[in-house]
Amino acid sequence: MTAVRSTGERFPIEATISQVQAGEAKLYSVILRDITERRQAEACLQADISALTQMHALSGKVLGAVGFQPLLQEVMDAAVAIMKADRGTLQLLEGDSLRIVAHHGHQPRFLEFFASAENRASVCGEAMLRGERVVVPDVEESPLFAETPSLPVLREAGVRAVQSTPLVSRAGKLLGILTTQWAVRYCPGEHDLWRIDLLARQAADLIEHAKAEEALRSSEAKMHGIVGSAMDAIISVDEQQRIVVFNRAAEQIFQCSASEALGSSLDRFLPPEYREAHGEHVRKFGASGITSRSMRAPGVLTAVRSNGERFPIEATISQVQAGEQKLYTVILRDITERKRAEEVLLRSEKLSSVGRMAATIAHEINNPLGAVTNLLFLTKTSNDLPESARQYLEVADAELRRIAHITQQSLGFYRESNAPALTSVNTLLESAADLLKSRIKTKRAMIEKQWDEDIGVTAVAGELRQVFSNLLANSLDAIDEEGIIKLRVSAHPAFKNGDRCVRVTIADNGKGIDASSRPHLFEPFFTTKGAIGTGLGLWVSKQLIDKHGGTIRMRSSTNGARRGTVFSVVLPVDPAAGVARPQSAGA
Ligand SMILES: Nc1ncnc2c1ncn2[C@@H]1O[C@H](COP(=O)(O)OP(=O)(O)OP(=O)(O)O)[C@@H](O)[C@H]1O
Ligand SMILES: [Mg+2]
Repeated sequence: MTAVRSTGERFPIEATISQVQAGEAKLYSVILRDITERRQAEACLQADISALTQMHALSGKVLGAVGFQPLLQEVMDAAVAIMKADRGTLQLLEGDSLRIVAHHGHQPRFLEFFASAENRASVCGEAMLRGERVVVPDVEESPLFAETPSLPVLREAGVRAVQSTPLVSRAGKLLGILTTQWAVRYCPGEHDLWRIDLLARQAADLIEHAKAEEALRSSEAKMHGIVGSAMDAIISVDEQQRIVVFNRAAEQIFQCSASEALGSSLDRFLPPEYREAHGEHVRKFGASGITSRSMRAPGVLTAVRSNGERFPIEATISQVQAGEQKLYTVILRDITERKRAEEVLLRSEKLSSVGRMAATIAHEINNPLGAVTNLLFLTKTSNDLPESARQYLEVADAELRRIAHITQQSLGFYRESNAPALTSVNTLLESAADLLKSRIKTKRAMIEKQWDEDIGVTAVAGELRQVFSNLLANSLDAIDEEGIIKLRVSAHPAFKNGDRCVRVTIADNGKGIDASSRPHLFEPFFTTKGAIGTGLGLWVSKQLIDKHGGTIRMRSSTNGARRGTVFSVVLPVDPAAGVARPQSAGA
């Protein structure tokens, strides 16, 4: 019920009415109570309850992890509701300045103007400066805004009254400012301020918590990125040897998906006979208190892929105490490829020592060979030899020539002319072709010579001629009748330290070299020619080119229009010699 005072003011009442018969007349008496204050208290309580409900909902939301930005908006909206305000801004401190991170009911112009509180007359800026709440019941009358550019902006935005409350963390750190604004002149009561204080305290806690969580999340994401993109397998196990981390490289190396590996025992990736020893090793390591070390075993460590294949690994192990649990992390690398490369190296070293030995033996054979050749010659010339014996001698002679070819290949043609001298590359090629004249003729091979300038190199002429004739001989073997062999000489400027070089290519349109042979070409005794080949030509050539500081390369194709093989030899031109006036190569 409402009553009216003599001033015209209405006020709430509570009333009881009674009647008595006084003679003729009836009298009514009203007993009434002015309940203005009780109503006010009730309204206040109501507001408190709704504010607390809102705050409670807010903390519930954050625990459910709504994300940082939505949380800020919730805080903003709650503040406006609690304060029965019209608008508001929430700013957070970034470095030294405040940045608006959420707002309620503002237009972009206002937000842009106050984007940074610096250099602008503002209540929030003032609150930050003072480190306490600032209330401005009417911006029109506040000295804070007198004749400032802020005032028209506030007017346009419909802001007349403002309060700004600092958000301070439990540790006393200023996190930001929570501002609410009213469209009319307004001075929030003590109780309103009590509520906004409560909200501010809660909001500060939530913001700090969310920030910490976000930092954690981003560092976790970073960690995840690093672990995920690592080239090495990273596997963490708990004390029971159950896998808790299994990164992408581990998936690839062990050929097992993380989802399958996680939770299972590490044992599945260890050879059965090592499992026990490994467990013991880890226990000892755990007890040692050492944080990390490389894992060592007699010989190479071995692991097992999910398909049962064993492979060699290299590994380090580290431990961390994560709460109650101890976690062990093994970082390991599949060294199958490296082991294979090491084996190849070892093999090629073995091969080259075999080759050296062959050369030594060839040298030793050379002298008795000369003697036997001479003896055979003498025997053949005797007159009283039966025909059958003469035939045997012919065969023996052919076999001897074969031995002689082997030893020559192994030793080099012109052992006597060992001193390097300036030599014309073109002349060397000509003389190599000359050596093979009869074979070229039998095959009716077309030899195309492509060279313009005459380039001289300082080299052992006999050795280079041997290289070129070996390459040419191989081409002759490879081509069909009337096949083409191109000999090309060109200046090749950029090689090694930019020294001047010459490139010699010998290209044929022969049958080509198949892929399975290519890796072995330069190995001694590698041949595809059966009894007629010794397999020394390319090996010897490589040794000689190496000795001259050059390189020898091969390109080949076994089918199509581009069938054939190109060997190219690049040799450094002695800088002192230059390109000038090479002498004739000599015989
Ligand atoms: N131009 C080529 N075309 C096709 N195959 C080639 C060519 N050059 C080399 N090869 C292959 O490389 C192998 C090795 O050559 P290499 O010259 O070392 O030995 P070879 O010719 O078999 O014997 P020899 O010691 O008598 O030279 C050959 O057997 C042949 O299979
Ligand atoms: Mg050969």
